[in-house]
Amino acid sequence: MRILGIESSCDETALAVVTKRDGRLMVEQNVLASQVAVHARTGGVVPEVAAREHIAHIFPLLEQIGVERSGAGIDAVAVTCGPGLVPALRVGVELGKSLSWTWGKPLVPVNHLEGHIYSVWLAEKTPVFPALCLLVSGGHTELVLMRNHGVYELLGMTRDDAAGEAFDKVAKLLGLPYPGGPEIARLALEGDPTAIHFPRPMMDSPNLDFSFSGLKTAVKVAWEGRAERAEIAASFQQAVVDTLVGKTLRAVGMTHPKCLILTGGVSANRLLRTTLERALQQADMKISFFAPELSLTGDNAVMIALAGAFRFEAGHMTDPLTLVADANLRLT
Ligand code: KG4
Ligand code: ZN
Repeated sequence: MRILGIESSCDETALAVVTKRDGRLMVEQNVLASQVAVHARTGGVVPEVAAREHIAHIFPLLEQIGVERSGAGIDAVAVTCGPGLVPALRVGVELGKSLSWTWGKPLVPVNHLEGHIYSVWLAEKTPVFPALCLLVSGGHTELVLMRNHGVYELLGMTRDDAAGEAFDKVAKLLGLPYPGGPEIARLALEGDPTAIHFPRPMMDSPNLDFSFSGLKTAVKVAWEGRAERAEIAASFQQAVVDTLVGKTLRAVGMTHPKCLILTGGVSANRLLRTTLERALQQADMKISFFAPELSLTGDNAVMIALAGAFRFEAGHMTDPLTLVADANLRLT
């Protein structure tokens, strides 16, 4: 089985080919054109600018991966159809529809968040169900219980900013470039994470929801009070990690999963990865821990092709003439 994956939901144009051999999924092609430098100028992603960049890059990338013009050798086309920025999503969706139609190959719509979850399905050892997923990206912060392939239960989500968004906004406040997550993480290495006590939002509430906008306000107050930048970065990062890990452990206690999947752009954060993995080990709960390899934490098309492979095998195809991008597509 060979699946072409297409991703254009935000600021990365990406194509990939994933194959399944002897029951194992493998990456055959993985190309990406990042728009980070373009959006750094405006300090964030402007949807129409993103769409124009996708149009400029998507056909050269298609040439680059060397897929036959006839589509020979490809069994299905998997494309991100939401959630994301509609003008950006549309570029990938329309390419997916055109290729599917002209090649006469099935079109498999993929939820971007499901793609992030499937980014861990590459290693020899793969997750077992039920799997608890902590999905942390620029647009989403969700705790999801995955009972089987394609079967999700939303346990909790952010009530305001996503974790990645909080990193980006705090970085902007501190005068750091976009995207802010990696910048804060780098600066945090020079600061003391206990220097400033920022709130751990909603840690005391019994549900599994998150809220990060109050934390952002606390950072603003500290910054205006002339606290040191590296101390702010380190203390802020610690507050976000404590909150994410605390709620995740609570969800573990409530749902008793067999494994934990940490995924999404923020899963690149080293402190988050190590703290979560260590907390699971210390609790001696025999829960295996999965996080994507670092090259697959951000948006990419490998994860879309991987999720697409499972959807394709389950017969989840769609009409290549009518698929539309959905900005608010949900997992559940
Ligand atoms: O999943 P992703 O690439 O795009 C969305 O689907 O949103 O996530 C991007 C987010 C950005 O907010 C970025 O700042 C954050 O992931 N991020 C990080 C790190 N690397 C990327 N946040 C914290 N620490 C990092 N090392
Ligand atoms: Zn993403």
